[in-house]
Formats: sequence, structure tokens, C-alpha cells
Amino acid sequence: MSQHLLLSLVILAISPIPGALQDTAVSPTQEELEDLDCGRPEPSARIVGGSDAPPSTWPWQVSLHRGGGHICGGSLIAPSWVLSAAHCFVTNGTLEPAAEWSVLLGAHSQDGSPDGAHVRAVAAILVPDNYSRVERGDDLALLRLAAPAKLGPAVRPGWPVCLPRASHRFAHGTACWATGWGDIQEADPLPLPWVLQEVELMLLGEAACQCLYSRPGPFNLTFQLLPGMLCAGYPEGRRDTCQGDSGGPLVCEEGGRWFQAGITSFGFGCGRRNRPGVFTAVAPYEAWIQEHVKGPEPGPAFPSQPQESHSGLQELRENCTIALPECGKALQPGTWPWEARVMVPGSRPCHGALVSESWVLAPASCFLDPISSDRPPRDLDAWRVLLPSRPRAERVALLVPHENASWEDASDLALLQLRAPVNLSAAPRPVCLPHPEHYFLPGSRCRLARWGRGVCPVYLEEEEAGRCWNDSRWSLLCQEEGTWFLAGVRGFSTGCLRPRAFSPLQTHGPWISHVTRGAYLEDQLAWDWGPEGEETETQTCPPHTEHGACGLRPEAAQMGVLWPWLAEVHVAGGRVCTGILVAPGWVLAATHCVLRLGSTTVPYIEVYLGRAGTSPLPQGHQLSRLVISIRLPRHLGLSPPLALLELSSRVEPSPSALPICLHPGGVTLGASCWVLGWKNPQDRVPVAAAVTILTPRLCHCLYQGILPPGTLCVLYAEGQEDRCEVTSAPPLLCQTEGGSWVLTGMAVRGSRELFAAIGPEEVWISQTVGEAHFLSPGGSPYWPPEGSNLCHPDIAGASGSPRAALFLLLLTPLILG
Ligand code: ARG
Repeated sequence: MSQHLLLSLVILAISPIPGALQDTAVSPTQEELEDLDCGRPEPSARIVGGSDAPPSTWPWQVSLHRGGGHICGGSLIAPSWVLSAAHCFVTNGTLEPAAEWSVLLGAHSQDGSPDGAHVRAVAAILVPDNYSRVERGDDLALLRLAAPAKLGPAVRPGWPVCLPRASHRFAHGTACWATGWGDIQEADPLPLPWVLQEVELMLLGEAACQCLYSRPGPFNLTFQLLPGMLCAGYPEGRRDTCQGDSGGPLVCEEGGRWFQAGITSFGFGCGRRNRPGVFTAVAPYEAWIQEHVKGPEPGPAFPSQPQESHSGLQELRENCTIALPECGKALQPGTWPWEARVMVPGSRPCHGALVSESWVLAPASCFLDPISSDRPPRDLDAWRVLLPSRPRAERVALLVPHENASWEDASDLALLQLRAPVNLSAAPRPVCLPHPEHYFLPGSRCRLARWGRGVCPVYLEEEEAGRCWNDSRWSLLCQEEGTWFLAGVRGFSTGCLRPRAFSPLQTHGPWISHVTRGAYLEDQLAWDWGPEGEETETQTCPPHTEHGACGLRPEAAQMGVLWPWLAEVHVAGGRVCTGILVAPGWVLAATHCVLRLGSTTVPYIEVYLGRAGTSPLPQGHQLSRLVISIRLPRHLGLSPPLALLELSSRVEPSPSALPICLHPGGVTLGASCWVLGWKNPQDRVPVAAAVTILTPRLCHCLYQGILPPGTLCVLYAEGQEDRCEVTSAPPLLCQTEGGSWVLTGMAVRGSRELFAAIGPEEVWISQTVGEAHFLSPGGSPYWPPEGSNLCHPDIAGASGSPRAALFLLLLTPLILG
């Protein structure tokens, strides 16, 4: 051991704080300086996606301190010179005084442990005259130390890094390394003990990098790279430098030496897809560096490029490979590859979402006992997580509840770590999470997915079913360009369930990425707010509620499905009723058609959807489901007219099966309405008969008060009366101005003209079917306020014939007064 090292050890022993060593350490001897080598660290055994660097791997790495803390990185290029980034020292166009800065050299961790670190004051900071802002380039700086750095712990030259000559070419595709004490993710500082992080980054050619940056990224921005900039990273992101790494080196090994190819300069976020880190290329600045490094000590070493790396330098053809999102892809619509069910012994399964290889997000209330304590339970050993397409259940290693989980509904979240990461493929695959700045545009296509507990058992009495719905929760998934994001979760709600309020997930992204270190936060993909300058209100949007599209009808095509929500409900015993798909797992039908009066058992019922074409030839149905429960509203004394049939599994929206929209009540003026039924119950070719809905008053007058409330009367258009048969209880549909089809009523037993209105059952339907597509009530109601005794005696007498009554009504306009 040399004297030199002994002396520094003594000093370290007396004052373990590196700051105390400032400028007291021994400088290299003239001998050592003469044969100063570069870029050859002691042979030895993050940054985003990186890991702890082994000690002494990157001896040229320095930390630049101001105000007592680490601000930027830098590299020692000569005993008295450090290379860094200009933007670390320039604020609002002014260069900060050198006296405010100090340089920590030889540090591995920055928690004050005496690992050979020492500090030097800064005598001068030099920045190119042209430097203005990072995005304009020339982001480099030279720092002259007040005293030369001590050389390596083994008193062996090798501290400084080698610099490339201007002619030096680094081949794209080369694996290089970036190092620093910067954030390990966006807004997520390196935790104690602040061990230097290293990450392997691939050099990207100019064209490949420009290709990535020409695609809109975060904030819908593109970027034009400038000469003197260099990119390193990966199209898929996930490994990168980040805030606090700036000024630090990007080094590549050639011929046994490490050359500094770049200086960490900037990026768009950290580790984001198609946004590799941008570095200041060092080679083009050879002349500037040579010119500014002056003094008695040796300057930086610019070894010429080793011959082998020269010869190995083939200009790889650069293809423009952009990365697609790795999360949020559902190959089959309606099956969520991130759906995770957490099985805790003694309680019902809790639904959550896979957010990375090893982490599942779920409501904390599934696992925390709110009364006894908010301490996570202990026996994680017995817990299991079921993931799609995984033969065996996963085991749980850790439960991390959100710190506000037990007292704030919006933070009712917990992360569960799996014991072993799962291989990501088509399934399981994580869902994408939004960054804090994500904005789901109005009209985004969103869907509900199960969340937490509260999934109803197969068959429940109505009362119980209502309770089970009130307890259950949903998560909101929103799609952008075919990629699904977890946009929000809904906490407990009682009573009124629409409109729903979801707690946005954007606010939790930082916590989730902090805990998981690698959840898939994905940039906003949809930015189209519609044509510029045009009022979006005036555009005719496709019909659509908070649960996605509804009531769409494909263009008439011979063999296509013309009525994608029309279902055949086959009841055991041979009866076939009309049903209407109101949500992916639910069909609405007339009670009298599906249930025999007085019967207490649920009949065996099959539902067919997706009948193609108009021809009377028997057609294959594309979809069939069993009915697993029948739900009826609670009607005082009266037998309820509408029944909801729960299907054995969801019918995902497709051109052959789409849910209809539901009207919250009333009928808007001028809507065109149709009774949709079958010509005859045998071949069941769909037919529609045009009708007009009469005002309640007229209806009431015609039927003399014998109608249950909420009954609609229709008047058939000329020659349309006999188009459909009535035993199947056909539905009454209206078309909105925008063209969407809205379910307005279901036929009352045995009647051609009377329909049970949907509107009055809105609460029951939406409480039973979370995803029912009720349109928001728009416009003023068509019907005038109801009064009593408004029936003209002539109309009342004409109750046998609505047509005659209407005729009378038109002749006596005063009655409508
Ligand atoms: N400008 C940052 C700093 O001052 C470095 C950012 C690097 N970002 C990136 N995504 N590569 O530390």
C-alpha cells in the first residue's frame, strides 16, 4: 500500500464527511501526471431502469453540488477539469457564479460514507457562447477545479475518461453506459443510500432517433434533433437517464478504454416510449474543449479511435422502428388480459388489474379491516392471484396499501407484489396507466370492468341483488387508439348510480410507479378534439353513453345483421319472445312473455343474438347464451311489465350484437318510432312497423284510465298494423335525431298498441345493469303537463279505435289548448 493511500485513509478516518476533505487531499505527483492515462477503471467485479453500479466502476463520475445538494453529474476529463452540461449552470441566460459550486469526486454512494470521496471547489465554469437552451444544443460546460483531483484509490491513473477526437465515430447499435445519481423515474428521486446508478443504453443513429421524435409524443409534441446531439436508449423506453443525471457521461468501451460519447442533456419525461434520452455529442466539441482547457496540469486525453472499432464500424441501415404500447392490448374484445382475481381465504375474490410483471392493483378495502386496524393482514402465504391464461395461481409476496387508503375513498388502492414476475404475453398483459398530465378526451370510448368485491352470485332475489350491486365497484377503462388505460375507479356508492363519478387514476400514477418501479405508464395517444375552429357540439357524434356506443345499426346489407340488439328469447316449452340487448350481459324482455304467472321457478331460457339478413331462410345465429337469472322490479301489487335477463356471459359489442340506447323518459318531438317484431313466430324474420307515439293524455282518454302508469300508446302508419305478430311481445324503438336507436317500450300482453315505457324503470334498470346505456335527457319534453278531465267526450267514446280518435283530435285543435 503506498503512502499516498495511507494518508488519505487517515484523513478519511478523522473526518468522515466528504465535504470536510475539501482541497486538503494530496495532489498527484508530477510523475503520475506525466503518464496520465484515461478510461481504464479498476477491473471490478439507476437512472431509470438501471441498477447500483459496483464501486470503482466509473471512477470519472463526479457529482456537482450547489447549496449542499447534488444538482448534476459530470465527468473528470483531466486532473483539474470536469465536463458537464451547460444547462446545469445557466439560469435565465445567466451563468451562475463558480463559487457556489463544489465537485464531489470518487464517490460511490452519497450518504456521507467515507468511500474515498473528496470535494473540490470550482474555480471557473466555461460554457459555449452560443448556448441558450437545452433544445438548441451546445449543452456542455467545462469546470476548472480549484485544486487537482486525487487520483484513484489504488494510486493508479485511470480516473479521467477518454475523450473522442472530432473524427471518432461511435457505431449505432453500440451498447454504452450512462451513470448518475438522478431520479430513478419521473419525479421519483434515487432513494438512500444514493448509490451511483448505471444503465446500459444503445446508441441510436440520427435517422432512427429523428424517426422516433417525429412522432407526436408526450403533450403531442415532436422534436427536431440538431447537429451535436446524440440519442441513446430504446424505442420501447423504460431505460433512460432522468432529472439529476444531466452533465453526467455516456461512455462506450473501445479497445479496452472507455470513451465519453455523450453528456446527459435532456429528454421528454424519462424512459417513455419512443422518447430516448438526448445527449450532447462530445466528439464534435473536441476543438472547443482543447481550446478552453489550459493550465500547468495535463489536459484531457484524446486517444485516437482504436483500429478494430474503426473496422467494425459498419453504417447499420437505420430503420425507422417505432415501439407500440406494450400494455393495454386486449386481443379479444371483452376479455381483459390484465384482469386479476385476488383470492384471500375466507372472503370472496377481489378483482384488480395487473399493472406490471409483478404487481397487481386492487382496492385496499378488499384487504384491510377498516374497524380493527388499518394494518395489512399477515398471512400472505395463503393468498393467491388468478391471472388469465396462467395455469397456476400466483403467490403474493407483499401488500402495499396506499397511505390514505383507509380514510379516503379516492385512495382506496393497494398494490400486491407477486412472488415471481409473470411472463407478459397476449395474456396476462398489464393495463396501461395514465401519466398525471393525461386527459381523456370527451367522448372517449370507455368501458366498465369489475373492481374489488361485490360480484353477485348467479341467482339472487331482487332485494339481495340490489344490495349486492350497491356494494360492488367498477373500474373505468378507456381506450385510445386500441390501447386500454385504467382511467379511474369508482368507490362505494349507494342509491343513485348514474351519473357515476370515478376517481381519476392520473393522480395515483406517481405512487404506483414509485412502488412498482416499472408499471406501464403510457403517454396519451388520442389528441383529436375534432376539426379546429368548429364547435364540437354541432358535430353529429355517434350515439354513445358513458359505457360506449349504443343503438347503432349497420348499413343495410343483404346478409348483414340489421338489428344488432334484437334477441330471440327461447323459453323452455317452445315459446319465443323478443328480447333487446341493453348491455353486454343483459337482455330486456316483457315479463309476461318469459315468466308464467304464479310460477316460482326460473325457466330454462336461451337467448340468441346476431341473426343475419332479412331472408326467411333459416340463418345461423352467431351467438347464444343461457339466462342465469331473471330480475324483476318491485312493483306494489302490480305484476311488473319488464324483466331483465342476466346472460351466462357477456356479449361483447360487435357488428352483430350491440346494445341499444335507453331513453330516460318522454319522447322527443318528431322522433320516428317503430315496433320491431317478427312477421311470424316460426321463421322470425325481423320486420319494423312505423308508428307514432300518442301523448299520454290522448292515450289516457282513449283507454279511460284502465292503463297502468307508464304505458305508451302508439298509432301505426297506414298499412303497417299487421306487419308484426304480438305474442312475442315486440319492442317499441325510436330513432334520435343523430340516428341512434333507443328502446322506448316493450309490448303489453296481447296488445298491438300498448307498450310498457322504459323511462319509469330507469332507476331499477341502471341499478341492476351497471352498463345500461341511458341517454341523458335532452331537450324539452314533448308532452304537455298532464291535467285531469281534459278528455273530450268524443274522444273518450272513440277508445276502440285510436285512429278515429286521432282524427277527431286533429279536427278539434282547441282540445289540445
Ligand atoms: N435535464 C435533465 C437534468 O437536468 C436530464 C434529463 C434526461 N432525461 C432523459 N429523459 N434522458 O438532469
